[in-house]
Amino acid sequence: MKGILLAGGHGTRLFPLTRVVSKHLLPVYDKPMFYYPLCSLMEAGAREVLLIAAPSDLPLFQKLLGSGRALGLRIFYRAQERALGIADALRIGRDFIGNDRVALALGDNVFAGDCTAVFRHAAAQKDAVVFTSPVPDPVRYGVATVQGERVTALEEKPARPASNLAVVGMYYYPPDCAAYAAKLSPSARGELEITDLNRRYLQEGRLRALPLPCRWQDAGTSEGLLRAAALVREEELKGRQLGCLEERAYRLGFIDRAQFERLWPLSAGSDYGAKLRGVPV
Ligand code: DAU
Repeated sequence: MKGILLAGGHGTRLFPLTRVVSKHLLPVYDKPMFYYPLCSLMEAGAREVLLIAAPSDLPLFQKLLGSGRALGLRIFYRAQERALGIADALRIGRDFIGNDRVALALGDNVFAGDCTAVFRHAAAQKDAVVFTSPVPDPVRYGVATVQGERVTALEEKPARPASNLAVVGMYYYPPDCAAYAAKLSPSARGELEITDLNRRYLQEGRLRALPLPCRWQDAGTSEGLLRAAALVREEELKGRQLGCLEERAYRLGFIDRAQFERLWPLSAGSDYGAKLRGVPV
């Protein structure tokens, strides 16, 4: 399975923080925001990842991650010229997806917990799979009505939500998602909506919803950014590192111990570096 990390858009909800820098590069506690969803893609088993960002931001991501080889990954980069919507990622990624199943992760979503088992389960399905999580403010999200794993309705930011179940920013699709995305029309707000794509799978009886078994935070607002940092810190106090790319690559077996230790000097002198050095054999 392949992974797409979507890290474009304008980040307007975080202005002025994001006037000159992508929100995905802002710190969430001790790492850039996009490290967390990238880790989630790795947990899902993606070794080939397409990172999509605004043209001016792409070089910064490339500087941080390079080819991905040091992490046992192959990272590809593509620009999203204009913020046309989340589903645009699957159009941009059409050649990359090819005949493979793909996980699409939103670059501002932080998953707090070890989701490896459920993410791998979703990766192994034939249908499209979304995850839901109860939220106090469903008007801000894609909202699902479900009966067991069956989705009966989906709405994007509904004024009167039919449930409190938000669809989180980690989606699993069969290879035909790129062709479906290419046929989408912009919504009233001018975006190619991921909810419209999911509705297409719903109509075909090819969409499943699973309850997200861990905590989760959309970090795309100032409140969300603060909450995400608190969540990361809280997990760390419980002894669990979140979003630690090098550690995850090692634990997942993408790199061996020698390769892992060769990455330590890059973060020498920082708290992050000390955490890496503390990872047991
Ligand atoms: O966080 C989960 C929610 O994410 C879902 O429940 C919603 O259904 C989904 O539409 C989305 O809602 P948001 O309002 O939070 O989406 P946002 O505009 O913040 O974009 C989400 C991520 O995708 C963010 O990291 C920026 C990136 N993005 C967004 C757009 C519209 C792009 O890279 N390009 C784009 O064109």
